[in-house]
Amino acid sequence: MKDSKSPRKPRTADHINNMPKSGIRDFFELVIGCDDVISLGVGEPDFVTPWTIRESAIYSLERGHTSYTSNKGLFSLRKEISKYVSENYGVQYDPDNECLVTVGVSEALDIAIRAIVNPGDEVIYCEPCFVSYAAEIAMAHGVPVAIENSEDNEFSLDIGKLKSKITPKTKALLLNFPCNPTGATLNMQQMEEIAEIAIENDIIVITDEIYTELTYEERLPSIASLPGMKERTIFLHGFSKAYAMTGFRVGYACGPEDLIDAMNKIHQYIIMCASINAQEAALEALKNGRQAMIKMRDEYRERRNLIVKGFNDVGLKCLKPKGSFYVFPNITSTGLSSTEFAKRLLEEEKVAVVPGNAFGECGEGYVRACYAASTSQIMEALDKIGEFVKRLSK
Ligand SMILES: Cc1ncc(COP(=O)(O)O)c(C=O)c1O
Repeated sequence: MKDSKSPRKPRTADHINNMPKSGIRDFFELVIGCDDVISLGVGEPDFVTPWTIRESAIYSLERGHTSYTSNKGLFSLRKEISKYVSENYGVQYDPDNECLVTVGVSEALDIAIRAIVNPGDEVIYCEPCFVSYAAEIAMAHGVPVAIENSEDNEFSLDIGKLKSKITPKTKALLLNFPCNPTGATLNMQQMEEIAEIAIENDIIVITDEIYTELTYEERLPSIASLPGMKERTIFLHGFSKAYAMTGFRVGYACGPEDLIDAMNKIHQYIIMCASINAQEAALEALKNGRQAMIKMRDEYRERRNLIVKGFNDVGLKCLKPKGSFYVFPNITSTGLSSTEFAKRLLEEEKVAVVPGNAFGECGEGYVRACYAASTSQIMEALDKIGEFVKRLSK
């Protein structure tokens, strides 16, 4: 007879059981505890948050600001977000009912998807991509539909492939340009074609613009600003990358009132509001953080040039991405799989990169290296990678 205390029903939900663990986290379990590792792994700025932003968080606490805020976030911050988005992305949002402050873009992404997806609805997204996309769609009981971008197209979106993925069940298209992990961007013509397709097929576009400040060439407005797009676009952005504020956990969503309202319903039950001190720091970032942000971006540009040349010099073909702080070199010439390459590089040379297949199957044959590390660390890592590749070819 079964012990009456042992569980007889499945204890965890099927859709959670079926979800693979994040490939990045698996890999970083290996890194933890390894001393002297040069990490080009985690997608996090190596800069500490600019001082005036930190100071405003300290000052917020000193003044005893320890309460909840409005669910949607401080109105002063939403007003500043609205101004910033209008000036930098060419689209006007009403801070009253078209802006929502969230706990990072992570939360904004989750509640955007949950607010619009019915079970079985399809959401199209590009691979290789940020590890959360397919999981977020699946957790909302939607169907993740991947477009496989390729090096031949500089990992940018292939309009023909997009068209081929659309079905009557397509509810949304999730975009992330500049892209994590490839750094790929869109041009104006692609944006216009995507907009036309979205309008024609009545598709909602979620645009994750977390890396747009880190664009090293021509900067374009958001797809949300194109005719007919504001009413069908959820614009997501945050402070983690451009302002080196990952630990503050502040992001935001802007969009049409009905969609922001639906997102806020979820947000008010699960989160209530982002931390007031972090929101005040974010306000300072928008008001006075521009110079510091530009300085970091210019530094990333130099590092990008260095790392792209370095990978190509050691014989690993590496495109020059137009944005983000990642490169995605091709490692197929070594004869190793992405996972073997990353594991052996870590074990033999103590350099951490992320296997490309962590970002989708079509990332196999590549690794992601984050150049938000100091120039000396990047140079040392490149030397070690050079040694490693040379040894492999012997
Ligand atoms: C494409 C993309 N979107 C969203 C996020 C989440 O960022 P946040 O720190 O704002 O939650 C990340 C983090 O790496 C990312 O790369």
